[in-house]
Amino acid sequence: MTKVDVLLGLQWGDEGKGKVVDVLTPNYDAIARFQGGPNAGHSIEFNSIKHVLHTIPSGIFHPSCINIIGNGVVLDPIVFAEEVEILTKMNVDLHKTLLISKKAHLILPSHRELDAASEAAKGKGKIGSTLRGIGPTYMDKTGRNGLRVGDILSPDFTRNYEFLKNKHKELLQQYTYQSNIEQHEDAWFKGVEVIKQFRLVDSEYDINEMLVAGKRVLAEGAQGSLLDIDFGSYPFVTSSNTICAGACTGLGVSPHSIGEVYGIFKAYCTRVGSGPFPTEQENDTGEKMRNLGVEFGATTGRPRRCGWLDMVALKYAIMLNGVTRLIMTKADVLDSFDTIRVAVAYLVNGKQTTRLPYDINVPVEPVYKEFKGWNSDITGITNEQDLPVELAEYIRFIEHETGVPIHIVSVGPNRDSTIVRA
Ligand code: GDP
Ligand code: IMO
Ligand code: MG
Repeated sequence: MTKVDVLLGLQWGDEGKGKVVDVLTPNYDAIARFQGGPNAGHSIEFNSIKHVLHTIPSGIFHPSCINIIGNGVVLDPIVFAEEVEILTKMNVDLHKTLLISKKAHLILPSHRELDAASEAAKGKGKIGSTLRGIGPTYMDKTGRNGLRVGDILSPDFTRNYEFLKNKHKELLQQYTYQSNIEQHEDAWFKGVEVIKQFRLVDSEYDINEMLVAGKRVLAEGAQGSLLDIDFGSYPFVTSSNTICAGACTGLGVSPHSIGEVYGIFKAYCTRVGSGPFPTEQENDTGEKMRNLGVEFGATTGRPRRCGWLDMVALKYAIMLNGVTRLIMTKADVLDSFDTIRVAVAYLVNGKQTTRLPYDINVPVEPVYKEFKGWNSDITGITNEQDLPVELAEYIRFIEHETGVPIHIVSVGPNRDSTIVRA
C-alpha cells in the first residue's frame, strides 16, 4: 500500500505550487486537489506555453496522469467550463483523465454576489477576497444548505437550485448591493452540462483503491498555510483548511495514509488582499521584488504585496503541516539584491518572541538577520553545485533553522528551471 504525498503552500499562497506539481507529476499516477476553488490560480510554463489553472489540478498536462477534483474543493461550473474549453483548444484530452468528486460543493452565481456584497459592506475592513464566492459556498457547506456536484444528476436539481438561490436573494436584501444573479444563470447551467460530461465519482474510493494497488498519488493544495481558516491570520484568511489535515478531509484519506509532505515557499514573501504581513516592504525594496518577480495575482491581476522571508511564520507553517521536504521558489528574483533580510523573531510590545502572536493585527516588529546577496544570474543553473556560495549559505541557514531539507530550488517559472537536490 502506498501513501498520499502532499504539496502545499507555506505562506500566503502563490508560492509556485502549480509549477512544481507539474514538475513532479511524472513521479505520480494521480494528482488530487483537496480544497479551495477558483480563488486559486496555479501557473505552469513549458514549451512557450504559459497557463493558469483554477480548479483543475496541475497534473493535467501529462496525458497518462489521472487528475482528481476532490470533495474538499468548491467548484464553479462557469469557471470550470472556461477552463475545459481553453484546455481542449490546447489539445488536452481531459475527459480521459479528469475525475470529479460528487461530494464537491457547487458555487452558485448567488454565492459570488453574496461574497461581493459582504466585502462591499465591510468597507475598509474587507478581507480582500477574490470575489469568487468561496466564503459563502463553504458557509452553505457547513450550514448544511449546499448543493453538491452529485446533485446535478437529480431530477430535483433545478428546484433545489431555485430554493437555495431564493434563500440567497433574501440574504442579499440585507445589503445595499445591486445584484444581478439571473444574468449569469445561462452560463452556469451550461457549465453544469459540461460537468456532466465527466466521470463524477466518490473519489475517496478511487484514491484509496489506488493506494491499495500501489499507485502514487500527490495531493495538491491551494492557497497557503497562513490563509488557513483555523491557523491563518484570521479573519484575513480563506474559508478552508489549507494545511495538511485538509488533504485528509478533502480527499477522504486517513492520516496514516499521508507520506511525504512537500512545503513550498518563496525565497521572500508575498500576500494579496488585506491582513497583517509583518515583513512587508512598502518601499523601493518591495517594488523591486514585485517588478522582478512579476508579482501580480494569477486570478485577479491585483498587485501582490511583497516583503522579506519570515522564519517565524515559516516555522509555524512547517509545524502545522509536518513538512518533510521543503521547496524554495523564486530565488532568482533576489539575484540583484546586495543584502537579503530574513525575519528571525518578532518584537511584540517590546518583548522578543519566535512565536506567532494570537493577534498579528497588533503591531509586530520583525527582528532581521542579514545575508550577503549573490549578485549573479542563477536562472540558467540546473546543477546544485553551480549555485553561488551566498545562495548556498542562505539555503543552509533555512535548513538549519527549520530542521527540514530543501529538496528543490526553483530558479525560474519554466519547468526546466528546477534544481532537484540530492
Ligand atoms: P501558485 O498559486 O502557488 O501555483 O503560484 P502562482 O502561479 O499564483 O504564482 C507563482 C508565479 O511565479 C507564477 O507566475 C509562476 O510562473 C512564477 N514562478 C514559479 N516558480 C518560479 C521561480 O522559481 N522563479 C520565478 N521567477 N518565477 C516563478
Ligand atoms: P493560490 O492557490 C493567494 C486570498 C485572497 C484574500 C483571502 C480570502 O493561487 O495560492 P477568498 O477568495 O479565498 O475568500 O479570499 O485569500 N487568496 C489567495 N491569495 N493565492 C491564492 O490561491 C489565494 N486564494 C485566496 O486574496 O486575501
Ligand atoms: Mg496562485
